[in-house]
Amino acid sequence: MIIEKADLNCADEIAVIESKVFKSNRSVNSIRRFLSDENNEIYIAKTDEKTVGYGSLNVILDEGYIIDIAVLEEYRRQKIATRILQEIIECAKRKSLKFLTLEVRESNKAAILLYSKFGFCKAGERKNYYSDPKENAILLTKTF
Ligand SMILES: CC(C)(COP(=O)(O)OP(=O)(O)OC[C@H]1O[C@@H](n2cnc3c(N)ncnc32)[C@H](O)[C@@H]1OP(=O)(O)O)[C@@H](O)C(=O)NCCC(=O)NCCS
Repeated sequence: MIIEKADLNCADEIAVIESKVFKSNRSVNSIRRFLSDENNEIYIAKTDEKTVGYGSLNVILDEGYIIDIAVLEEYRRQKIATRILQEIIECAKRKSLKFLTLEVRESNKAAILLYSKFGFCKAGERKNYYSDPKENAILLTKTF
């Protein structure tokens, strides 16, 4: 498995994973726009030439916002998200970011465990932040 920085050509594969994992309908064009912004990065995980996961990051000055990390269901528990998150953390260090932060559903134990392994701590909560189903968000932050 390899981790690569995504370019515009990766937008289609990212859109497929996003729609499968998050049931979202974000268009390929919207992902291309995201990738065209120099403040954004997406790292993709590839196995046998197939993109099986990605992690996306938005940087504002010296702050890093993880938008999401997603791995196709049939490829989970193989440390793919771990490798993607390691890459995002390396990127944060290269850019001298002060912190990385993200929101996650409070029921998403898998993600909370993943992030806590990398030193992300609960920094707050947003009530009813998510819909379908309505749920609180936990804010997780790692400071450098
Ligand atoms: C969360 C997610 C990205 C994890 O991907 P993954 O490649 O399976 O994760 P890894 O194999 O790197 O797991 C790393 C650690 O996370 C935790 N973890 C991952 N999946 C877990 C699960 N289903 N149950 C409990 N802990 C889990 C474990 O601590 C695991 O370490 P271990 O395997 O040594 O026990 C994946 O389940 C996913 O895509 N979920 C849907 C999208 C999502 O919720 N994204 C996160 C919010 S942005």
